[in-house]
Amino acid sequence: MTDTPATETSVSRRLIGRTAVVTGAGSGIGLATARRFAAEGARVVCADIDETAGKAAAEEVGGLFVRVDVTDAEEVEALYKAAFDAYGSVDIAFNNAGISPPEDDSILTTGLEAWKRVQEVNLTSVYLCCKAALPYMRRQGKGSIINTASFVAVMGAATSQISYTASKGGVLAMSRELGVQFAREGIRVNALCPGPVNTPLLQELFAKDPERAARRLVHIPAGRFAEAEEIAAAVAFLASDDASFVNATDFLVDGGIAGAYVTPV
Ligand SMILES: NC(=O)c1ccc[n+]([C@@H]2O[C@H](COP(=O)([O-])OP(=O)(O)OC[C@H]3O[C@@H](n4cnc5c(N)ncnc54)[C@H](O)[C@@H]3O)[C@@H](O)[C@H]2O)c1
Repeated sequence: MTDTPATETSVSRRLIGRTAVVTGAGSGIGLATARRFAAEGARVVCADIDETAGKAAAEEVGGLFVRVDVTDAEEVEALYKAAFDAYGSVDIAFNNAGISPPEDDSILTTGLEAWKRVQEVNLTSVYLCCKAALPYMRRQGKGSIINTASFVAVMGAATSQISYTASKGGVLAMSRELGVQFAREGIRVNALCPGPVNTPLLQELFAKDPERAARRLVHIPAGRFAEAEEIAAAVAFLASDDASFVNATDFLVDGGIAGAYVTPV
């Protein structure tokens, strides 16, 4: 037994012949998932607003890069059309791009502009991406949509990012509803709820402020943050036929945070 993420040599090839669209593929969870999808045999469309990072991801996985601002309805439609035109199907939609800017903080200090921006990028984007992907999947009679929410969609934090949390609650509720609505058309829709992930941003923040890191780590039964590859492994499962009866869930990949009362010392 090992608790380290699977390596490329040990992954199965569950996604051969599938076309997968990944938004926010240039970095973090999106990048790790683009790599994992490709390792499992999928044709990957890497979408990002950051052209340099998105292109690099696409090159690495031998896929297609599409520059997209996920808040723009026309660009999102063009993204899914580009995927279909290039590869002939849209089998997997990983709607993952999101932001958590510092201006989004306690409700006492967060202004309307910051609130709206986060709602647009994190929630409206998922509405647009699902709306664009569904017609292809309905025609195929098959598809898996995974929308990135967060563990904060199911539990509250005293260290608030109010619009972020509300947006992720919205992603969760919307995914559940879509999963129910389209279940009999062969389409599954799940909300992925990751716990905190060990990203460069998080590392930098916590290196500066170890107390802040300790305050969070104490709540995680696993005693550490997730690696992006561990989240990607869960996404690949949800994308694959191995998850054929997993639908409309709040799929937690959080090291046990949401299940914990007292954690080990
Ligand atoms: N990192 C965590 O601890 C964590 C935990 C739970 C949920 N999440 C969620 O996972 C998702 C990915 O997070 P991450 O940590 O990998 O982030 P990240 O910042 O490393 O990557 C996000 C990517 O999205 C892209 N992006 C941002 N705005 C965009 C837009 N308008 N249009 C297109 N692309 C855009 C960025 O350019 C970037 O490449 C987000 O939805 C985030 O809320 C992250």
